[in-house]
Amino acid sequence: KAIRLQDYRPPAHLIDTVDLQFELGEEVTTVRSTLGIRRNPDRPDAAGLPLTLDGQRLDLVSVALDGTPVAPDRYTVTADHLTVDQVPECFSLETVVRIKPQENTALEGLYKSSGNFCTQCEAEGFRKITYFIDRPDVMARYATTITAEKARYPVLLSNGNLVASGEHEDGRHWARWEDPFPKPCYLFALVAGNLRHAEDHFRTFSGREVTLRIYVEPGNEDKVDHAMRSLKKSMRWDEEVYGLEYDLDIFNIVAVGDFNMGAMENKSLNVFNTKYILAKPETATDNDFLGIESVVAHEYFHNWTGNRVTCRDWFQLSLKEGLTVFRDQEFSSDMNSRAVKRIADVQGLRTVQFQEDAGAMAHPVRPDSYVEINNFYTPTVYNKGAEVIRMIHTLLGPEGFRKGMDLYFQRHDGQAVTCDDFVAAMADASGVDLSQFQLWYRQAGTPDLSVATAYDEAARTYRLTIRQTVPPTPGQPDKQPMHIPVVVGLLGPDGADLPLRLTGEAAPAGTSRLLHVRKAEEVFEFVDVPARPVPSILRGFSAPVKVKADVSDADLTFLMANDSDAFNRWEAGQILGGRILLGLVADQQAGRLLDLPQSYVDAVGAVLRDADADPAFAAQALVLPTEAYLGTQMDVVDPEAIHTVREFARKTLAARLRPDWLATYRRHAGNQSFSVEADAIGRRALKNLCLAYLMALEDEEALSLCLGQYHGATAMTDVIASLQFLSNSNAPQRDEVLAGFYERWKGEPLVVDKWFGVQAMSYRPDALERVTELLKHPAFEIRNPNKVYALIGGFANGNPVRFHDATGSGYRFLADQVLRLDPMNPQVAARMMGPFSRLRRYDAARQALMKAQLERIVATPGLSPDVFEVASKSLEAA
Ligand code: ARG
Ligand code: ZN
Repeated sequence: KAIRLQDYRPPAHLIDTVDLQFELGEEVTTVRSTLGIRRNPDRPDAAGLPLTLDGQRLDLVSVALDGTPVAPDRYTVTADHLTVDQVPECFSLETVVRIKPQENTALEGLYKSSGNFCTQCEAEGFRKITYFIDRPDVMARYATTITAEKARYPVLLSNGNLVASGEHEDGRHWARWEDPFPKPCYLFALVAGNLRHAEDHFRTFSGREVTLRIYVEPGNEDKVDHAMRSLKKSMRWDEEVYGLEYDLDIFNIVAVGDFNMGAMENKSLNVFNTKYILAKPETATDNDFLGIESVVAHEYFHNWTGNRVTCRDWFQLSLKEGLTVFRDQEFSSDMNSRAVKRIADVQGLRTVQFQEDAGAMAHPVRPDSYVEINNFYTPTVYNKGAEVIRMIHTLLGPEGFRKGMDLYFQRHDGQAVTCDDFVAAMADASGVDLSQFQLWYRQAGTPDLSVATAYDEAARTYRLTIRQTVPPTPGQPDKQPMHIPVVVGLLGPDGADLPLRLTGEAAPAGTSRLLHVRKAEEVFEFVDVPARPVPSILRGFSAPVKVKADVSDADLTFLMANDSDAFNRWEAGQILGGRILLGLVADQQAGRLLDLPQSYVDAVGAVLRDADADPAFAAQALVLPTEAYLGTQMDVVDPEAIHTVREFARKTLAARLRPDWLATYRRHAGNQSFSVEADAIGRRALKNLCLAYLMALEDEEALSLCLGQYHGATAMTDVIASLQFLSNSNAPQRDEVLAGFYERWKGEPLVVDKWFGVQAMSYRPDALERVTELLKHPAFEIRNPNKVYALIGGFANGNPVRFHDATGSGYRFLADQVLRLDPMNPQVAARMMGPFSRLRRYDAARQALMKAQLERIVATPGLSPDVFEVASKSLEAA
């Protein structure tokens, strides 16, 4: 059942042209397809082979070859394929199929969302629309004619340019679209519906006038401005930074409420989850605004990294995703605060991707086998993939990297290529040897670095000994040493960076140095070091690794105050906080009394009192390491002890620094006019963090501030923050406030999702009870992925202490929901399984409870390959 990279062969046949005719209907939709097919010259052995097309859940009406019906004994139809025997070297094949988009709850292929037709073809959805060679190395030119009832579906869209349209007498109308760029079928899109649009224009650097349109359901026209601005900024940025220009006269975005993932980069017709388009200050949080900016950019950037140059096969997914995530991260860094963006990205990587690397589904950035490709749209492929690109950027420098990108497009524009092709372009353009570096694509697991330091006062030398190990992962017991770029700085006693000179160098060069760690152990010796320095290791998080360094608590406090690298200034606080909290976890487990060292309170207090210098940074630096992150630092995760200890630390910091939290809250709580500039976002984040600490104490003053903010705020960021604190509290107003929020916002599905999320993530002991009740709430729809992610996902991923309840009630609940979802939407069901794939990380009792649920799941007849793959791999690794 598993597909393996090593089995890759070019396709036996190629398809050059596709002509599609859709007759959209309420009962039945008919798809007529005419394919221009020829034998692949790269497969001389394919001469006698039949033509095999992919197709699933299609009701085949007719097949004709070069205009003549194909005799029934010359073709075979199975659940997955249409095979035609004795095909000529070059021919056209016409098929007619019937499908029922209105019954498609998997949201893959052609489906309906709020009564509108839309598509999602990546990775293998096109085969649910028509018979085709559904693989990305088959690239064709598409012409698409859509016919539908005009009153219900006034808007008819597909890829490329609108070339003709007209009306029929019976109330139906049609539109014909042609896409001049050859593309794989996963980039095909069709939308038909009752939609309103906003329009704007962009002039490219070569003078092309591009019409930009964002289509939404009626009533949402007032929430597209931010997405439109983000689109124009992305277009400008890609021209400025990479010299990449948009290549058609029209760029359309459609927002739909039912969507499995974030968005999709279909050529000139991006389809988005409404979550990543719709925003106004009253309904969207600052994080929503930032998410929209980055996802709009991400999908736009795919036009070059993904569409113009695409993937040869799905093992190469990170070729487009890792690279495009790197590009959208850099874009957001340039638009907002670079340090804050880096911190947020690293936090995400460390909590989510590091957990994946340590679990049953661990896989390399370029996986070498899969059962269901949809299970590999993962943090590893996307986010670790982006870190791999970032390391190449670090190794080559910005100019070398740009040269590499230019060569990549020069060589591969219009092609379907591999990660190796990308790395080769980077290496060839820059002259940098990336051969060992390529292991980052092949080896799974998070490397561990240990750093030992030694200062020799007499010789004035400072030595860093760096050792690396890469842990075993499923299917990869033994690992080779990787090429790891480690950027370091050394701080002198005054807190300033020292000029750095390595043994053998004539003169110091810079204050931040890139060290190449290639062997299991490497020693770097700095000379002319006047006094024992404080090392700043892995500046900017220059590699996705875990570091253990012999840096004292006092040195970490020093780094928190002085490091010129903002990321490491934050990191020092996280390491120190992590050390202290993990020490307390051990105390808690041993039944010892908990006590937070005053030196740590003082260090936090110093950051807090300096917060106004950079509120956005302070807001991140003052957050204690998350429960999930603390879990990744333990051999056996103890969710209860972690939660107890973290809450204890929060309350202690709240109590001992109360006047500072209060003063800082008050300074930033004034009625400023709303803006989504980085600075304003930072001030709101800091203010709400202060309120979070104050609410940890739940005293009367905190409660009244929180209620005051809840009732007085107009920006959703402030409303939802106060709602979240209230939802975690025992405030008597709690239920009333939650009920009132729903009444106020029940007409806005995305806001209702937040309401579900807040309750799902509440760490009150009755959280599961409440979640179970909410499943029956009229606003909850099991068929809508956003609702599932908010309520079920919020509980399973965002509420470790209640989900991992020792009775196993959380596990039973999740398994129930997975089994309920699987027949409707396997992709979403499989996405809910994440916590089970990490069962090895827990104690024996919890492992047994999770295992029992997994066994129940795999024993269920008719399971999808999606859920089966995750469940069976989780059991194998158990
Ligand atoms: N290519 C899209 C993006 O990252 C993701 C779509 C994946 N969809 C899926 N069903 N696997 O922008
Ligand atoms: Zn993408």
